[in-house]
Amino acid sequence: MNKKVYVAMSTDLVHPGHMNIINEARKRGTVIVGLLTDEAIAGYKRIPFLSYEQRRIIVENIKGVYDVVPQKTLDYTENLEALRPDYVVHGDDWKSGVQSQTREDVIAVLKRWGGELIEIPYTSGISSTMLHEHLRSIGTTPQMRIRQLRRIIDAKKFVRVMEAHNGLTGLIVERTTIESEGGPKEFDAIWLSSLSDSTAKGKPDIECIDLTSRVSSLNEILEVSTKPIIFDGGTGGLAEHFVYATRTLERLGVSAIIIEDKTGLKRNSLHMDPVHQHRETTENFCHKITMGKKCQITEDFMIIARIESFICGAGIEDALNRAQAYIDAGADGIMIHSNKPEPDEIIAFCTRYQSFPKKVPLVAVPSTYTRTYEKDLRACGITIVMYANQLIRSAYPAMVRTAESILEHERAEESEPGCMPIEEILHLIPGMRYD
Ligand code: SPV
Ligand code: MG
Repeated sequence: MNKKVYVAMSTDLVHPGHMNIINEARKRGTVIVGLLTDEAIAGYKRIPFLSYEQRRIIVENIKGVYDVVPQKTLDYTENLEALRPDYVVHGDDWKSGVQSQTREDVIAVLKRWGGELIEIPYTSGISSTMLHEHLRSIGTTPQMRIRQLRRIIDAKKFVRVMEAHNGLTGLIVERTTIESEGGPKEFDAIWLSSLSDSTAKGKPDIECIDLTSRVSSLNEILEVSTKPIIFDGGTGGLAEHFVYATRTLERLGVSAIIIEDKTGLKRNSLHMDPVHQHRETTENFCHKITMGKKCQITEDFMIIARIESFICGAGIEDALNRAQAYIDAGADGIMIHSNKPEPDEIIAFCTRYQSFPKKVPLVAVPSTYTRTYEKDLRACGITIVMYANQLIRSAYPAMVRTAESILEHERAEESEPGCMPIEEILHLIPGMRYD
């Protein structure tokens, strides 16, 4: 009887290493590919460029592939138990690192019916991680970037966002990565904060930076990054103007705009006195959301409504009523803001929100309740957490210290320990490769 061979793959960017594995697999029997879903991949690395459906079409058409089934987790057990293959074929690169436990589990499960793990030498010199790096250096297109936010929300269920306000900070958010137990960790998306953008331009956060200047900062970030962008649209201005801003941002590849339910001269929400924060009526704000939703072109662009009830001292009932009204008006997400040192009002809101008949992703910005861990926000139902201003707030004191040191010592020597070496800054931004 023909033997059954199981191969699990993500195959975002198909390369000869994949063909090698499939060729080795088909020598042993009928090949069934367990195609990792976006959710499964998001558990250990960046979500793929191609959607599951696109990847399935490719893999189904590879010579020697008999069938493609979804593998919904990194763990093979469920699919192996359902298919009971005679062999699992995998490259030998998973003996160490994030996947080593998965490997142990595969061996143990196969043992139950006498199945065998076949490991073939890893095809060196090519890997999807390498291709991803290369793709990143080539860049992305507005169409690809815009859908990324919804895809990350669906795949990861939790999105970690960091602010950027120019090309350099865009690069920092794009590139910063650390190793952790669960694999490499990085930010999923970029927040173009009005506070950081205005501050970087030496202006107050009162919507005096016009859209053209905001788009100029946005363009700097778009130039150097591939991650999805969430744009701080302030109050969104007049509904009649907001529709144009929506079109402009969507055309450029921004994934979402967040607008807050204030009106008139806007003040930043982190001011501790609630004076001068003029609230937009629910009706007018709903109208603005609906107008924006009507004029957007793609299904992918998101309009996120930001509720300022806690900032303005209007309380939780007002916040919940507005959330319901904004969702009914078409909002794709709700940002619930607070400027308290503890997340109590955010948690109270999230708890009551769970009983809403229609829920959209919730966004939190822990600028003041900084002690709160992401896992706690996630546990109460927050999907997107945004670090709204930390890069500019850390850069400013460092720059002032340097300026003061040079004034004090009348030379630069004493400021050097706080500065990055000249050799390093020369190589920080690589030139474009022409080969
Ligand atoms: C921003 O980052 O500009 C925001 C968040 O809108 S807050 O500063 O808290 O208002
Ligand atoms: Mg703002």
